[in-house]
Amino acid sequence: MRASLRLLVVPLALLACRAPAPSSAGLRSAGPAIPARRAVTFPDGWRFKAGEKAAFGDRFMIASNQVLASNAGSEIVEAGGNAVDAAVAVGFALAVTYPVAGNIGGGGFMVIRMADGRSATIDYREIAPLAASRNMYLDAAGNPTNESIIGYKASGVPGAVAGMAEALSKYGSMSLAQVMAPAIRMARDGFVVDSSLYYSLRSSSGYLGRFDAKDVFYDNGEPLKPGTLFKQPALARTLQQIADQGPSAFYRGTVGDSLVAAMQRGGGIITKRDLEQYTALWRTPIKSTYRGYTMFTMPPSSSGGIVVTETLNILEAAGDSLPTWGTAAYAHLLGSAYQRAFIDRNSKLGDPAFVNVPLEQLTSKRYAQSLAKTIDPDRKTPTPSDGAQIVDGMHTTHYSVVDDKGNAVATTTTLNNGYGSAVYLKNVGFFMNDEMDDFASAPGKPNMFGLVQGEANAIAPGKRMLSAMSPTIVLDPQGELLLVVGAAGGPRIITATSQVILNVIDYRMTLADAMRAPRLHHQALPDTLMVETNGLTTEAEAGVRRIGHAVRYLGGLANVNAVMRVAGGWEGVSEPRVGGTGGTSAR
Ligand code: GLY
Repeated sequence: MRASLRLLVVPLALLACRAPAPSSAGLRSAGPAIPARRAVTFPDGWRFKAGEKAAFGDRFMIASNQVLASNAGSEIVEAGGNAVDAAVAVGFALAVTYPVAGNIGGGGFMVIRMADGRSATIDYREIAPLAASRNMYLDAAGNPTNESIIGYKASGVPGAVAGMAEALSKYGSMSLAQVMAPAIRMARDGFVVDSSLYYSLRSSSGYLGRFDAKDVFYDNGEPLKPGTLFKQPALARTLQQIADQGPSAFYRGTVGDSLVAAMQRGGGIITKRDLEQYTALWRTPIKSTYRGYTMFTMPPSSSGGIVVTETLNILEAAGDSLPTWGTAAYAHLLGSAYQRAFIDRNSKLGDPAFVNVPLEQLTSKRYAQSLAKTIDPDRKTPTPSDGAQIVDGMHTTHYSVVDDKGNAVATTTTLNNGYGSAVYLKNVGFFMNDEMDDFASAPGKPNMFGLVQGEANAIAPGKRMLSAMSPTIVLDPQGELLLVVGAAGGPRIITATSQVILNVIDYRMTLADAMRAPRLHHQALPDTLMVETNGLTTEAEAGVRRIGHAVRYLGGLANVNAVMRVAGGWEGVSEPRVGGTGGTSAR
C-alpha cells in the first residue's frame, strides 16, 4: 500500500539554514528573496528520495548531460566569457563527448535572456533538402518506410554550426576559436570514455554497425570500453576548420564538400546548394506570464513554446491554485490541459514559413479560459479519434547556463534519435541527424507505428520539421531570473519541462525535488495518461481511473537539465533519471 502524498507547508529548515557562499567578484546574489521552498513527500516505491541537495555555485552554473561539456562552459566563463559564449562552448563540446545527441550534424533551438533585459531566440532547426518531396518515405503501397529514420535519406540539412555561430556573433563576447577550444582539445587529445557512452554504444551496435561508426566507436564489434582515452582526429580537424574559417567551412567549404560527397555515395539527397542556402533564424521569443512569473520560450518551428504556454495558461485559468500535488485531481487537471494543448499542437503547427500558425490565439489567456471551461473535474474528455498524433524521436539533449552576470541561455539540440540516422561521416568525424522523421511522412494516414499525423507538418523542400524542443527561461514576479530549463524526450520534452516549472512555482519545491518528482504525460493520442512507474499513489491511480483515464506506466519520462536562482547564487540539477556522467559545473 503506498502512502498518500502531500505537500508539507513548513519551509525547509535545511534550506533556510544554509549559509550563502562568501562574497566574491562576480557574485550574483542580488535579487529578491526566493519564496521559501516546501518539502514534498513522494509516493512509496518512487525511485527517488525527496530532500536531496542540488549543486550550488555562487557565481555561475551550467547543467548538461555530460560533465566534460559542462566543464567546457565553466572554462569559458572563468576566462571572462558570458553565458552565450559558454553555451556555444558546451554545444560544441557535447558534439565530442556526448555523440548520442550532442552534434554538429543536427540542429536545435536557443533561448537567450541577457541581464540587461534583452531576450532572443534562435532557430537552427534542420530543413528538408530541396530534393525532398511529400511522399518520399512512402512505399509503392503508400505505407511509410524506415528511410526517414535510418540511413542517408533520413537527414535534414544541419543547422547546429550556423545557429551556434550566429548566436555567438550577436550575443557572445569571444571568438569562435576561443569558445571552441575546449571541444577541439577533447576531440584531438581525447577524453576518457565513461560507462554511459559504453552502454549507449553497446545498445546501439546493431544500428551503428551498418555504417562507418563501427570503425571508430567499436573495436572488432566491441564498443569503446570505459576508461579508454578516445581521440577523434577527424572531428578535431573539422572543428578546427570551423574555428578558423567560421561556419562557411561547414556550409561552403571542405567539410560541406565531404558531407555532400558522402550523401552522394550513400544515396542521400543533401546537396551543396542545400548547405549554401541554410540560414539560422532569429525569432521573437514567446513571452508569456504564469501566475505573475514571466516565461521566455521558443516559437515555431518548435511547438514547445506554444504548448508549454497554452498548457500553463489553461492551468492558470482553471483556478487560483492547482490541486494538491500528486492527487488524482492534480493528475487529471494536468493531463486534461496537456491533452487540449497537444490536440492543437498536433493539428495546427508547422514551419511558419509554410503554415499559418495561430500563435496569438493559442497562447492567449482568453483562449485558455475557453479550454479550461471544457475540463470536467469528474470526467475525462475523450480525444477525437481522428485527431492527429506525433511521433518524435526519443533522444536529444538540453543544457542550461547562467553566468556570473546573470545572463542566461537555455539550449536544446538534437540528432533526433540517438546517433541520428546512424550515418557517421568518417572523413569529417560526425553523425548525421534523422530529423526528417519529425515530419508527418503520410499526413492523414497511419504511419509505420499506426499513427496519424497532421497536414501542417507535411514534408516540403526547404521546410523545417516541427519540433517539441522547449528551452525556457523564467523570471520571478520582480523580473529577476529564476529558472532556466528544458528537456530531451520527444513530445515528453513539453510535459517534463512544464512540470519542473509548476513544481518550482506552484508547489514551491526545491530544484532538486522539482527534478526528482514523478512526471506524467498526455499527448492527446494515444488517449492515455502516461505516468512514471510508481509515480502515483494507489489512491491517486484509482482516482484517475474512476475519472476515466487509461493509465500507462513508463520507466522514465524525459531528461531535463535545469538551473535555478537561490539565496546567494545558483542551484543546478542534471537529470537524475539518466545517471552516468551527466553533470553540473559551477563556481
Ligand atoms: N527530434 C525531437 C524534436 O525535435 O522534438
